[in-house]
Amino acid sequence: MAVCSLLACGQNPADEAATEIKSDAASPASDEIARADADAISSYEYKDVHSFARPDEARVVSAHLDIAVDFDSQVLTGKAALMIEREQGADEVVLDTRRLDIESVSIGADDKLEAATWDLRPEDPNLGRALVIRLPDTGQNKLLVTVAYRTSPEASGLQWLQPAQTAGKQHPFLFTQSQAIHARSWIPLQDTPGVRMTYTATVRVPAALRAVMSAANDTSNALHPDGIYQFEMPQAIPSYLIALGVGDLVFVPMSERTGVFAEPDIAQAAAREFADTERMLQISEKLYGPYRWGRYDLLILPPSFPFGGMENPRLSFITPTVIAGDKSLVSLIAHELAHSWSGNLVTNATWRDLWLNEGFTSFLTTRIMEAVYGKARADMEYYLDLQGLREQMATLDINDQMLAIDSTGRDPDDVFSNVPYTKGQMFLSWLEQQYGREAFDVFLREYFDKFAFTSITTDEFLAYLDAELMSRHPGKVTRAQIDQWVFAGGLPSTDMVPESDAFSSIDTLSSAWVDRMMGLDEIDTRGWSVHEWLYFLNNLPTTLSTEDLRALDAAFDLTRSTNSEIAHSWFRHVIRNNYAPAYSQLEEYLIRIGRRKLIVPLYQELVKTPENRQFAERVYALARPGYHPLAQGTVDAIISKSEGE
Ligand code: BES
Ligand code: ZN
Repeated sequence: MAVCSLLACGQNPADEAATEIKSDAASPASDEIARADADAISSYEYKDVHSFARPDEARVVSAHLDIAVDFDSQVLTGKAALMIEREQGADEVVLDTRRLDIESVSIGADDKLEAATWDLRPEDPNLGRALVIRLPDTGQNKLLVTVAYRTSPEASGLQWLQPAQTAGKQHPFLFTQSQAIHARSWIPLQDTPGVRMTYTATVRVPAALRAVMSAANDTSNALHPDGIYQFEMPQAIPSYLIALGVGDLVFVPMSERTGVFAEPDIAQAAAREFADTERMLQISEKLYGPYRWGRYDLLILPPSFPFGGMENPRLSFITPTVIAGDKSLVSLIAHELAHSWSGNLVTNATWRDLWLNEGFTSFLTTRIMEAVYGKARADMEYYLDLQGLREQMATLDINDQMLAIDSTGRDPDDVFSNVPYTKGQMFLSWLEQQYGREAFDVFLREYFDKFAFTSITTDEFLAYLDAELMSRHPGKVTRAQIDQWVFAGGLPSTDMVPESDAFSSIDTLSSAWVDRMMGLDEIDTRGWSVHEWLYFLNNLPTTLSTEDLRALDAAFDLTRSTNSEIAHSWFRHVIRNNYAPAYSQLEEYLIRIGRRKLIVPLYQELVKTPENRQFAERVYALARPGYHPLAQGTVDAIISKSEGE
């Protein structure tokens, strides 16, 4: 193909470690990989190593929260009433907590409450503390356990924002981020994706603010004068999807069943940007079966939100950094929406199985983008992701290059990478190529139906794949190939990669400029989409002279780009080549935005030289108080690691 292939582009130190996965069904897995990963395949038994809970003995089936939100002390205070179902003879239920102050635990309904015996076990640095509650021998298998508690101001799953950090600057803002294991920092519960529960909630907030949750929300737009909001989530969901947002929020409908909650200043712009959400929803339903969650709304957060988006059911949480004005970054919405099938309906049972959520979702996203915006755009976005994966792969340990990544003994956040996403997507695209789109669509649709509202492991998926696709259409793929995709490092060969004529013509123009055969003024960029700009910028030589950077900036006004992705890509060149005129904008960007994907690579680049490291430390001291605890943790590690060097 015309565009440089993924394997041929650039120098990649991981090339030697990387293995090709051949499309030829007869090719055996390489010995080396087979050996390296035999252990991973055979020694695995289903157990969520990131939770203390023992749901096979006693499990939470529903929760009622009654919590008050106190912005002054940055604390949630209240009760979690948990309906527990236990096996015969089980005399304990184990919950997860992290920095929670447990005030009391009682058992039984209001009219017959009894104090329970409980014990908080010693703290594990990654997992927090187990709350072990004794269950009386009442002869019943269902018991209501009520925990009264307070959160810590340092709760890892909460970000408390000062008014200055919001769009309107008048009111504070609070949001939760429970994935992966942070629900336990604001609710005592069984914080494992293998346990699903329904929930209801009563949330008390200051009267000027509105509360919204991953549940049925009031879209009437009237504030509740008493500051009390009630919620119900009747579908059983895992703990990492319980979510709360509190702020100066209005609601703007986009269609009968989609809308936006946002601060008043940005609500209209958000509703315009994401106006295609209903179309995305219809296409997803056509491909993957009915949307089973009622409404689909978006909550637009302040720019410190550490992710692009979070698929909280009925109410995806979205970074404002994708409101570009031209719908160029709306694949994020397709992604969070797609999780309504891959993730929220069929859920990874443990964090090792995250690729079942994110890989499937990335695959679905491309299908949705193709149907709404055409194949050319969908291919470009996929190609950019593949390049991103390839770049990151070079930095990862071989064990973190497989789809089923074992994060035992680590915080799942520390293992976060593009592998479950883009390599997962490649795996599914490869399967689609082998079986044909029609058969693969049927397979996926049946998969979502079959496992709806359950949590499954990688091994359960592989067994299903074997039964429903491999055995029915024999001779197309081998078990060894599948194992290599899921349990081995490296990247597959190039024949998977979509072609893009647009990108090949950018290569031609870009090389002509780099080789001094053409001036920047001769490059006609008028029709370029954001994705073409990103391809152009991402693939420029890493070393550029100050004159080159000045010329690029003068021609294309890159330092002042209002597109957060273009600015990010440009700033990487700025840092690598010390282009001084852009540093004040870079500083502003790092202070304003807390989205990890946009800021982390910039800090990583900055700490590489002493001068830039000084800049990074100075700016980070200003930016850190505005970052989410998760982003703080990630950037702290980058800065402190570089100090030792
Ligand atoms: N569920 C994830 C975010 C997440 C993953 C949080 C793992 C904590 C642990 C969300 O759906 C996501 O993937 N967000 C991406 C979107 C992008 C790939 C379009 C993000 O935030 O960048
Ligand atoms: Zn996702």
